Amino acid sequence: MLILGIESSCDETGIALYDTERGLRAHALHSQIALHAEYGGVVPELASRDHIRRAVPLIRQVLAQADSVLADVDAIAYTEGPGLAGALLVGTGLAHALGVALAVPVLGVHHLEGHLLSPLLSDSPPAFPFVALLVSGGHTQLMQVEGVGRYVTLGDTLDDAAGEAFDKTAKLLGLDYPGGAALSALAEQGDPTRFKLPRPMLHSGDLDFSFSGLKTAVLTLTQKHPDPADRADIAAAFQVAIAEVLTAKSMTALKQTGAKRLVVAGGVGANRQLRAALVAGVAKRGAQVFFPRLEFCTDNGAMIAYAGAMRLLHGGEAAGSFGVRSRWDLQAISAP
Ligand code: KG4
Ligand code: ZN
Repeated sequence: MLILGIESSCDETGIALYDTERGLRAHALHSQIALHAEYGGVVPELASRDHIRRAVPLIRQVLAQADSVLADVDAIAYTEGPGLAGALLVGTGLAHALGVALAVPVLGVHHLEGHLLSPLLSDSPPAFPFVALLVSGGHTQLMQVEGVGRYVTLGDTLDDAAGEAFDKTAKLLGLDYPGGAALSALAEQGDPTRFKLPRPMLHSGDLDFSFSGLKTAVLTLTQKHPDPADRADIAAAFQVAIAEVLTAKSMTALKQTGAKRLVVAGGVGANRQLRAALVAGVAKRGAQVFFPRLEFCTDNGAMIAYAGAMRLLHGGEAAGSFGVRSRWDLQAISAP
């Protein structure tokens, strides 16, 4: 079965073709970073308009790459939510129109389920069950994953997501949107021991997170040390604090569930320091950590096509109606 995946929940148009026998056949991405950069953040209306411009040419591109035509497509998976309503509507409208035209099933996919399953697209995928650390621009969650569609939330952020904290802190340090990767590059030139920032909720006894206080602590620190030469040390102090909290809670989640595998997904999973801390943490516990391919850490169509394929293989139902869910709890789609 050949599944066309369409991702349009935020500022990236991602299209992919996944074959349930032959694996990922093609994928293509258009990032809107340049479009939103001058506004310092995503402008929803501009995002929607750009998805409209990019989606059809990208579909043509992946079909050509996979040496396929639309008539070869057996099902269409699209991001139904969560995300920006207008942006989601572009992918949803297109998916349903194609579904009617081709007379094939159309599946609405939860964006975070896409991220959660994205490490399974790698050459050495993890087996179920595993604990997933989902760290994206909008979410920070620890999930227990028993299988496709069987997710239990272990912990969540009470305020800012890890990616959001990276982006807001980057802005404070004068770095351009979206900032996370730039902040991390700056941090690598800094001394992480010069300034000590708080480790929010490290000893809270649960698996929840809170990052907005850390951002405020950075603001206070930058006011005390306004010299641009100090920025790398501040960035390094911030990065080490976030990596330490995410790592400690992930280790506690492994301990609590007895799981031996940790899967990291979402854009912050590209962070080198976090990866190193998690690798060291699991090694101590005799566990393993799995990361998605770097290109599949951030938003992409491949994870949506793959999640759609898994849903189809596991008897998931095609979407009867046409709608988007800008807010949507991942656990709500989980089988009991
Ligand atoms: O998964 P994703 O595309 O976002 C959502 O679905 O929300 O991830 C984007 C987030 C942004 O906040 C970005 O700053 C962050 O991932 N990010 C990073 C790095 N690369 C991307 N954060 C820290 N270090 C990085 N290297
Ligand atoms: Zn995402």
